[in-house]
Amino acid sequence: MLSPMTQDEFQFLQKLMRDRSANVLEAGKESTTVMRLSPVLKAEGLTTIGDLVKKLRATGVGRLHTQVVESLTVHESSFFRDPPVWSALREHVLPPLVRASAGRPFRAWCGATSLGQEPWSLAITLKRWFYTGTEQFHITATDISEKALAYAMAGRYTALEASRGLSPELSQRFLKPDAGGMSVSADIRPMVQFRRLNLCQDWPDLGQFDLILMRNVLYYFDPVDRRSVLDRAARLLYPGGVLLLGAGEIATHTPRDLTPHRFGTVPALRRGC
Ligand SMILES: C[S@@+](CC[C@H](N)C(=O)[O-])C[C@H]1O[C@@H](n2cnc3c(N)ncnc32)[C@H](O)[C@@H]1O
Repeated sequence: MLSPMTQDEFQFLQKLMRDRSANVLEAGKESTTVMRLSPVLKAEGLTTIGDLVKKLRATGVGRLHTQVVESLTVHESSFFRDPPVWSALREHVLPPLVRASAGRPFRAWCGATSLGQEPWSLAITLKRWFYTGTEQFHITATDISEKALAYAMAGRYTALEASRGLSPELSQRFLKPDAGGMSVSADIRPMVQFRRLNLCQDWPDLGQFDLILMRNVLYYFDPVDRRSVLDRAARLLYPGGVLLLGAGEIATHTPRDLTPHRFGTVPALRRGC
């Protein structure tokens, strides 16, 4: 049985998460935290969270701190997660954005890519419904987690992951059988560039985007960090560009120059033209 942790140990982990990733580890999440950290304990040959916290306190911020943050962030994702969002993208959001990008590459940013299903779903959508032979589609896919990014970049999914959200038609066209799983096809690979980016630290120069997907990440942040990420992301949109949050997320703050807009049933923020 996993041993519990003290309030002092939990507060240490809350602060670590807050400082390193902006994620709020809420009170009441103590037993989930212990469970999520059990692989780290095992790998480190430790038996209690107390031992782990002692080791974290004794060593400078480094590999172990990163492992703890990676273990405590949520990486849940799937292809075409929240289908109404993808219908809205295909029918309402992308047609004018792709038209407006004529003469230059269309650019999108997935700000919390996780295991990669989101940028690959966007690549599939663009290739399947918007590519007529000349368009260039560039998707920048970022995440704080090196481990998630490595998985996303490999583009190799188990049969179960591949079956969640992909229609047989899209699966057949854009995934290829590969060593017991499925791999994204060479056709769409060049469309996505992966890089590590921590949303709560300084961002490198990313350029301007037609579309930003910041889905299912900001609800782990407190209102101040959420606001700061939204404000900074808003500045990266081309005029007319669109920022989409997760299906259950409500933008409690509207950055300057953006206006709330509904695409079908899906709320979004759009930059004025
Ligand atoms: C629940 S997943 C969302 C995946 C995808 N956007 C979706 O909606 O299916 C949340 C992702 O946010 C990432 N994340 C958490 N805090 C972050 C931060 N401060 N900077 C960048 N990514 C972060 C996690 O590593 C995780 O991969």
